[in-house]
Amino acid sequence: MSSRSTISRRRFLKAAGMAAGAGLLPVSSVRLSFADEKKDFTFAYISDAHIQHIRGTKFVRNWDRGLIRAVAETNLMVPEPDFVMFGGDLAQLGTKPELDHGAEMLSKLKHKTYCVMGEHDYYLDLGEHWSKLFGPQYYSFDHKGVHFVVLNSILTFDEWTHERWPSAEQRMLEMAGLDNPNGSPFMVGEKQRDWLKQDLAAVPTTTPVVVFSHSPIQKIYKGWNFWTEDAEEVQALLKPYASATVLYGHVHQIQYNQIGNIAFQSVMATAWPWPYPESYAHAEMDWPVMTVPMNRADPFFERDATGWQTVDLMKGRTGLNYTLYNNTARTVKFCTKTGRPRDVSYQDESARIPPQMHY
Ligand SMILES: [Fe+2]
Ligand SMILES: [Fe+2]
Repeated sequence: MSSRSTISRRRFLKAAGMAAGAGLLPVSSVRLSFADEKKDFTFAYISDAHIQHIRGTKFVRNWDRGLIRAVAETNLMVPEPDFVMFGGDLAQLGTKPELDHGAEMLSKLKHKTYCVMGEHDYYLDLGEHWSKLFGPQYYSFDHKGVHFVVLNSILTFDEWTHERWPSAEQRMLEMAGLDNPNGSPFMVGEKQRDWLKQDLAAVPTTTPVVVFSHSPIQKIYKGWNFWTEDAEEVQALLKPYASATVLYGHVHQIQYNQIGNIAFQSVMATAWPWPYPESYAHAEMDWPVMTVPMNRADPFFERDATGWQTVDLMKGRTGLNYTLYNNTARTVKFCTKTGRPRDVSYQDESARIPPQMHY
């Protein structure tokens, strides 16, 4: 892996051009650490590619390049990841050409690849084509002492899904808008919560549990659907575990939160970053704790505020090491004094890179 120091745009491009930039491209590497080092392992995490069809064989090149680069870097990782997780929103509008083109790019991965359903993959045909390509929409598996759960967290009310819209295309467009008031809050739903309860019944509470979802299993900002309506019910099922972590995509930005025993971590997108909603940057509220403002230093750099991170998971507390291109590397660790996560290297405003001016 490359060093975590800031790299200049020129150096980044040079390294990427030489295909020698393992660690410089937008993939998330997740490292799980245990007291017994033999059990440590790494997996890669790529998310939110938003492959967008234009017409015929044309797709939005920028989004294609983000995913192609992430796949290329993952294949170059040393040590090799045990598996790869794709975190959802493979497509932009859920069409067959988008999902097929995205699946083709993902098929170049050398490693076992798991997928999470995103709302952009789902709301055209309600997951039918996605399921043909990738299989079940929720499932679990065990790997080296960790129980992994994948949820489809982007479901919503039956009336909204089946009755409200005159066409499937209209339904997809309504859900695809970030701040569209016609959208509907995401949810895991009773059926999957019952399944999760049964699934976890066989898992000892001493086993670390890692949940992959597309939307955050917490209520962050309803106006942009950074929100899961039945988050508390899902959190309650995870409560008995000494170590529980939820890793999610969808928000295209860095977030960290801790609710009781559960650590929440977002991963970055390969397509584009979302800004932080103003309301939660300024509102008096406890969470999410915005310890790491994205600080989009250069909006004209297409990979700015996308990137990757390593995650150390030790005794239920996570430490995230973020690498952002053309920006300052950051670490967020749980602070035992305050009982909250803290950005140990970047908390001070004076340490941030000022916005770039372009004329
Ligand atoms: Fe997304
Ligand atoms: Fe999404």
